[in-house]
Amino acid sequence: MSEESAETCHSDESRRELEEIELQTRMERIGRKILVLSGKGGVGKSTVAANLAISLAQAGKKVGLLDVDLHGPSIPKLLGLDGQRLGPDATGGLSPIHVSENLSVVSVGLLLDSAKDAVIWRGPMKYNVIRQFLKDVEWGRLDYLVIDSPPGTGDEPLAVAQLVGKGTWAVVVTTPQDVAIADVRRSVSFCKALNLRVAGIIENMSGLVCPHCGKEVDLFKVGGGERLAGEMGVPFLGRIPLDPQIVDSGDAGKPFVQCYAGSPAAKAFACVIEPLLNPAPEDESASPH
Ligand SMILES: Nc1ncnc2c1ncn2[C@@H]1O[C@H](COP(=O)(O)OP(=O)(O)OP(=O)(O)O)[C@@H](O)[C@H]1O
Ligand SMILES: [Mg+2]
Ligand SMILES: [Zn+2]
Repeated sequence: MSEESAETCHSDESRRELEEIELQTRMERIGRKILVLSGKGGVGKSTVAANLAISLAQAGKKVGLLDVDLHGPSIPKLLGLDGQRLGPDATGGLSPIHVSENLSVVSVGLLLDSAKDAVIWRGPMKYNVIRQFLKDVEWGRLDYLVIDSPPGTGDEPLAVAQLVGKGTWAVVVTTPQDVAIADVRRSVSFCKALNLRVAGIIENMSGLVCPHCGKEVDLFKVGGGERLAGEMGVPFLGRIPLDPQIVDSGDAGKPFVQCYAGSPAAKAFACVIEPLLNPAPEDESASPH
């Protein structure tokens, strides 16, 4: 090896080490990382991630919402942030969009178009893009970082699990149909293989809130998520009913739990965050703090 290339290797290595320290430092300022995932598309991961984040923020916690769905980011649309762009912060990092005093958001959908291209060209590997987000975003001190991922157990949730690492909780979203239940088994196995603590399963689209009278109707078989949680020995966080207002508010970019605070589905979200706000003592012992 020539002297010159040896030097290059050396500086590459120290740059890598420095970045690793930067990443660790950022992660240490975040209390609880919650990765929202599911084996299947369209079960409401993004809806759940957004409304969990808002609910935690409403409960007085400092919350970041990170969308690592690189190909189909939907968080900007759900929160009415389409057209907004992330900017640089004073220290050369990336400043999130502050949606409210307690809630900040980052998504690949909020990058400048030129940056999006740069991100794609510079790092063909999704791992690097996610690593950069985790390393460079200046969230400040956070109580919770909620991370929305694309469907399945592919590169994105894997990258998060590897990069955020210890102390990450997973929230697995499913729907009552049997086919979704089969997928959730895979998600739970994925978490176990990567040592992610499964904070629990959420059964979304579970029963219907009648648009006429507001009463709940069991449209599909409900309870599959709870049964599965029992079978797999992981907690069940609760059921969120199907509510047409969730679709409407999502399409309109209005945060559902804020706009329809009194609805059964919003109340369901309030129940679901309870165990995340007040984890059982054994969970506390696994906390990074
Ligand atoms: N409880 C619910 N009641 C009614 N509609 C819902 C509910 N949850 C989600 N939806 C709707 O279902 C659709 C899919 O939801 P969402 O985009 O959150 O799913 P996803 O799992 O993130 O999808 P993808 O796999 O594409 O990322 C959206 O139109 C959303 O408004
Ligand atoms: Mg989604
Ligand atoms: Zn009715």
